[in-house]
Amino acid sequence: MNQNIEKKRILTGMRPTGALHLGHYVGALENWVNLQDQYDSYFLIADYQALGDYAEDVGRIRDSVVQVVIDWLSVGLDPKKATFVVQSYVPEYAELTMLLDMITPLGLIRGNPTLKDEMARQNDVSMGFFNYPVSQAADILINKAHLVPVGNDQLPHIELTREIARKFNRLYGQTFPIPDALVGRVPRLIGIDGQAKMSKSLGNCIYLSDSSETVKSKVERMYTDPTRIRISDPGHIEGNVVFTYLDAFHNDRGELNDLKQRYMSGKVGDVKVKSILTKLINDTLEPVRERRNYYEAHTEEIREAIVEGTKKAKLIAETTVSEVRGAMNILDYEDLNNIRKAMGSK
Ligand code: TRP
Repeated sequence: MNQNIEKKRILTGMRPTGALHLGHYVGALENWVNLQDQYDSYFLIADYQALGDYAEDVGRIRDSVVQVVIDWLSVGLDPKKATFVVQSYVPEYAELTMLLDMITPLGLIRGNPTLKDEMARQNDVSMGFFNYPVSQAADILINKAHLVPVGNDQLPHIELTREIARKFNRLYGQTFPIPDALVGRVPRLIGIDGQAKMSKSLGNCIYLSDSSETVKSKVERMYTDPTRIRISDPGHIEGNVVFTYLDAFHNDRGELNDLKQRYMSGKVGDVKVKSILTKLINDTLEPVRERRNYYEAHTEEIREAIVEGTKKAKLIAETTVSEVRGAMNILDYEDLNNIRKAMGSK
């Protein structure tokens, strides 16, 4: 029995720009691993979208495609359950982007708050970058996804996708489902240095590929409470990096609250809370490391995940794009064979 017929469809993705870290894990991947059992799931490696930022560093994208796939496999995304797609192998994504561009009001792009933020941080951006929210809408719509699991910052892009889908359906007939966003458990994990975001360029990451020793030394370097000199001084939780992470990684709320109480009343020190955190992170990463070892010894399975997934996704993309061309009444070869029809005569 093919259960996929019953299942709703998910599409989500990442731009391949480097190794994945704990921020990706708690913000997205952990959620994706659960979702792959319940949905017909498509995970996109958006290397074309990444070019919008890194056209002058294509080597980085190229190297990251396989690295991201290995990270995905390592956290437990399973190519038997889910479909991995490399965007650049499916030119239909580009074709649909161009067609959707035609019905997307410029004002919707200019007003996109995430895009505005990102543009404000750069001197100038490429047209490709400016257009990436539309290409993201195409990613989602080509797969006719019902649900898009993403981080908070991506919500404006899902809203745009909904608007484009509604407009397309109104102009050319019911074609696309209107997708919903689904936000992960920890929308944004701060860096180990306490900065707003864990990010490769800030050098404040714990990577999924870090060894247990590396995790230990990174946790030891974390900021805690600068006002606290002796263990017996009352500790502060607020703004304390270690406790922010404990909130993200501790499953036992009762035990965590107890630990916070003891920290605030000066009964437990930094060394102890850091060792608890190190253990929690390493417990999370241990199965990830084991899977990574497995796949690094079975590289043919990495290749197969990419090739088979992309093949399957390309068929879907071809079907959708041909439906879209039909809905938009774009001249096709059949019209040309029947040239009178092409010229609009009866
Ligand atoms: N913009 C997303 C990010 O940077 C990646 C992405 C590309 C995506 N296409 C998508 C996310 C489609 C969800 C749906 O993380």
